Amino acid sequence: MLSVVVLISGSGSNLRALLEAADNPLFPARIVAVGSDVPAEGLAHADQFGVPTFVVNPKAFDTREAWAEVLLSNVQHFEPDLVVLAGFMRILPANFVNALTPNLINMHPSLLPEFPGAHAVRDALAAGATKTGATIHVVDEGVDTGPQLAQRELEILPGETEAELHERIKQIERELIVQTVRAIADLKSNN
Ligand code: GRF
Repeated sequence: MLSVVVLISGSGSNLRALLEAADNPLFPARIVAVGSDVPAEGLAHADQFGVPTFVVNPKAFDTREAWAEVLLSNVQHFEPDLVVLAGFMRILPANFVNALTPNLINMHPSLLPEFPGAHAVRDALAAGATKTGATIHVVDEGVDTGPQLAQRELEILPGETEAELHERIKQIERELIVQTVRAIADLKSNN
């Protein structure tokens, strides 16, 4: 059984998809904890499923490295096999990434390497792109640059707003993250 810690910053709809999937005893992974950098709204999903949560706010630290060290020890307390960044909106410094990669994965609302960064959906619309999508990748020290694990395309509809497009991308992300976690769990159990 793969044990997973999920880190979020926002509404946590991807987290919820993972919690619902893992609620099925046949799913090969369990969510053992959920962490955040802010008191995120999405932590309520973890509460509903009886999963422990932690918040480590960077404002309480002098440096990003000091913050990341404490975030890391909170994560490692749960001894996860995999850490999923599910809408975690802060760049993690090398001390955190190097301690966990390649067992640290991220989801991103674009067809990487196109439109990395915090405004991927807005940037795709501003560039006049006709298609975009979602990507799951291993986290390395860059911003949205690590090896890709899964990707799915989506046509951009004429006149679509950023919020509408992001919601359609998130529907794909939710499916992709559940499939990817399942695939990683299956792979590890066969090794
Ligand atoms: C997702 O689109 C993710 O790719 C991006 O933030 C969004 C998180 O959505 N980084 P949610 O909090 O899971 O609803």
